Amino acid sequence: MPATVVVGTQWGDEGKGKITDQLAHEMAMVVRYQGGHNAGHTLVVDGVKFALHLIPSGVLYNSVVPVIGNGVVVDPVTFLRELDGLTGKGVDCSKVKLSSRAHLILPWHQAHDAAAENARGDAKIGTTLKGIGPAYADKARRVGLRAGDMLDRAAFAAALKARGEAESAHLVALGSEPLDVDAIVLLYSGEIADRVTPYITDTVSLIHDALDSGQDILFEGAQATFLDLDQGTYPYVTSSNPVAGGACAGAGIGPRDISRVIGIAKAYCTRVGAGPFPTEDLGPDGDKLVDIGQEYGTTTGRRRRPGWFDAVMLRHATRLNSLTELAITKLDVLDTFAEVKLCIGYERDGMRVTHYPDRLEDLAAAKPVYDIFPGWQEDLSACRTSEDLPARARSYLAALERAVGVPIRYVGVGPGREQIVIFP
Ligand code: GDP
Ligand code: IMO
Ligand code: MG
Repeated sequence: MPATVVVGTQWGDEGKGKITDQLAHEMAMVVRYQGGHNAGHTLVVDGVKFALHLIPSGVLYNSVVPVIGNGVVVDPVTFLRELDGLTGKGVDCSKVKLSSRAHLILPWHQAHDAAAENARGDAKIGTTLKGIGPAYADKARRVGLRAGDMLDRAAFAAALKARGEAESAHLVALGSEPLDVDAIVLLYSGEIADRVTPYITDTVSLIHDALDSGQDILFEGAQATFLDLDQGTYPYVTSSNPVAGGACAGAGIGPRDISRVIGIAKAYCTRVGAGPFPTEDLGPDGDKLVDIGQEYGTTTGRRRRPGWFDAVMLRHATRLNSLTELAITKLDVLDTFAEVKLCIGYERDGMRVTHYPDRLEDLAAAKPVYDIFPGWQEDLSACRTSEDLPARARSYLAALERAVGVPIRYVGVGPGREQIVIFP
C-alpha cells in the first residue's frame, strides 16, 4: 500500500488534517501536493491545538518526512513563521523538505488578490486573500519564481527586481498602492533566502526513492473536490487541483503509484466563501451546526455556511477521485439533533436530476431530496469501536454508505487525535 491520498470531498475543512495525522504514524512521508496557506488544517493532540497552513500534517511525528511538493504555492514568510511556531511548541521541523519546483507567493500576489476581489464588487468569490490565484496565474503565464531560484542569489535578486517593478506598475494602474520593490528584493533575496534555502530539495526524486524502497507515503490534499479549478463549482473555486489526480502532477508521481484514496467528508457539510450550496440550511438547524461544530475558518476566522450531507456530491466525488474508502468526520456534532437529514438526490422542475450538474446555474436551481433519520441524542465523544455507536447513529452511517457506495473506514467523534472509530 505504498501511496495513499487523503482528499476533501466537499468544499474544504472536512477534517483532513486530523485524518492525515491519524494515518501519519504509519508513513515515511507526508506530502502536500497543491494549494498554499489558504489551507487551515487543525490537529488536537493531548489537548494542544495545532493549526497548520503549509507544513504537512505529518510533522508531529519524528519518524515522518514532511514534504511540500512542486504543486504547492509557497509564501516564504508564512513558511518560516509556521516553522518557528511549531519549533516553539517543541516540534522538530528539521526534516521538512520544500520542492525546488514549488512556485513562490510574493507580495504582489497578495496585492493582486485583494485588487481582484475589490474589482468584483458584489460578486466576490470570497478568497482567503493569500495570493493563491495570482501565484498560480503567474505559474500558468510562465513568469513565476520558484523556490529553487533562491539557490542563485544574484539571479534571484535580479528576477525579483524585474518582476516587482512590472507588478508595481500594474498595481498602480489598477488604483492600488505601489510596492517598495527595493525593500522586497533586499528581504527576499537576503534574510528570507538564507533561511529557506536549507529546506529546498528535489522532492520528486526524494519521493520516488522512497517509493522504490517500499516506503509508505501519504499525499495530503488541501481544499477539496468541489473547490477544484477544473471539477469544482467554477468560478467559486480555488486555483489548484485538489482532486486525487492532482497528487500526480503536484508531487511528480504516476497514477499507478496510488493504491488507496481516502475521501474525507463531514457528517454534514459546510462551505466558506460564495457559490451554490444545494443543502445549505439557513434556519436554526444551520446555526446549531455552526455553534456545535465551531464552524469558523482556521485561516480567515470567517463563519462557514452550514448544511446537510449531500450524497449526490459524494457520489460525484467518488468518481472524480476513485475513492476506495470514506472518513466521516464530526459525527458527534449531530449528537443533540432530534432529526438528521441526508440528501440522496436533487430535483429540478419536478424532475429527478441524475448527475451532479455541470453548469453552475443548474446546480443553483437543484432542490435537495432528503431522507430524514431520527437523531441518536447521545454523546458519541467516547465511542472508539462501531459497537460503541448507538444503533441510530449506525443506521445513519449505513444509509450514508449505501447512498455514496463507498465503505466507511473512519468516523470522527471529536477533535482529539484519539477521538476516532476505525471500522475493520
Ligand atoms: P481541514 O481543513 O479539512 O483539515 O479541516 P479544519 O481543520 O479546517 O476544520 C475541521 C475542524 O473540525 C477542526 O477544528 C478540527 O479540530 C475539528 N474536527 C476534526 N474532526 C472532528 C470530529 O470528528 N469531531 C469534532 N467535533 N471536531 C472535529
Ligand atoms: P482547507 O485545506 C475551505 C475557499 C475560499 C474561497 C475559494 C477561493 O482548510 O480545507 P482562494 O484563497 O483559494 O483563492 O479562495 O476557496 N477556500 C477554502 N475553503 N477550506 C479551505 O482549505 C479553503 N481554501 C480556499 O474560501 O471560497
Ligand atoms: Mg481547513
